[in-house]
Amino acid sequence: MSEIVRIVEVGPRDGLQNEEVLLDVTTRVELIEQLAATGLKTIEAGAFVSPKWVPQMAGSAEVLAAVLENEKLNNIALPALVPNERGMADAIAAGVKEVAIFTAASDEFNQKNTNATIDESFERFAPVMALAKQHGIKVRGYVSTVIACPYSGKVAPEKVAEVATRLHDMGCYEISLGDTIGIGRPRETKAMLNAVLQNVGVDKIALHCHDTYGQALANIYVGLELGVRVFDSAVAGLGGCPYAKGASGNVATEDVVYLLNGEGFRTGIDLDKLVNVATNISQKLNRLPNSKVTLAKV
Ligand code: HMG
Ligand code: MG
Repeated sequence: MSEIVRIVEVGPRDGLQNEEVLLDVTTRVELIEQLAATGLKTIEAGAFVSPKWVPQMAGSAEVLAAVLENEKLNNIALPALVPNERGMADAIAAGVKEVAIFTAASDEFNQKNTNATIDESFERFAPVMALAKQHGIKVRGYVSTVIACPYSGKVAPEKVAEVATRLHDMGCYEISLGDTIGIGRPRETKAMLNAVLQNVGVDKIALHCHDTYGQALANIYVGLELGVRVFDSAVAGLGGCPYAKGASGNVATEDVVYLLNGEGFRTGIDLDKLVNVATNISQKLNRLPNSKVTLAKV
């Protein structure tokens, strides 16, 4: 029996948050429904952040409310990003059952992204975790800049391990390690993962690769060899990060599924359907899909 790999589709959040074309609520809901129909089981659906900071995610409450009341999506995890208590209250009001909190391994990046140092972000997380416990909400934790920071340069693997461990110890069920600017290569990714895995079990780790320098699939392969079985990716390779200059999109989900199929892993995702979704959403955004697989297949 082949092993299962879980893909966390982040296109509707990480992808769309950095696209120039702003999509309305209906189009975002349709995208999530189409992604679910490909067999994806986890789809990050929005972000309860300030619309002044990230206008693309305005209306996330409506997006979440719509997808959560769609019975066809009952078995799909639909997490949303939450930066603070205010965001958590909005997420709860929308009926969200899973949230993701986010911090970084670099104070400089975290300041630009959320106006808080790493320590200050953990102060914001305390009431979020209390509310999560009270309402039975699952919490995933992100660490950004796990290889390098666009403002302060190289990041030590030990620093990543420290922040990942703090998130784990405060109750996150999974820690997603983000190469926010897509700069890492296999040797650096391996060193970072090995440092984290000294403190956190591999079954609690996800890898979140952006593909700025075209190294994402090589880094994912390193993750697979070290036992990581959860990877974040975005349909059509959408997006980037508004607070990380030069960051291109997440690695394309189609490319990750193609790799995993070839390596004999099971994802439960229909690649042809996914390619169709990638083509459709790219047209709506007036851009070409940033996926080698989709470009090869259509
Ligand atoms: P702040 O300015 O420090 O917050 O922003 P504040 O508490 O001083 O509030 C300022 C204003 O924001 C107030 O409104 C608040 O009500 C409002 P005003 O009085 O000016 O009208 N506010 C909010 N509004 C909506 N939702 C909220 C909220 N909180 C306060 N939750 C804050 C702090 C975190 C809000 C801000 O910095 C922010 O929203 N940042 C956005 C960060 C973001 O979404 N970044 C992209 C996602 S992270 C990422 O992409 C990385 C990842 O993919 C992994 C990787 O690749 O590395 C996850
Ligand atoms: Mg990201």
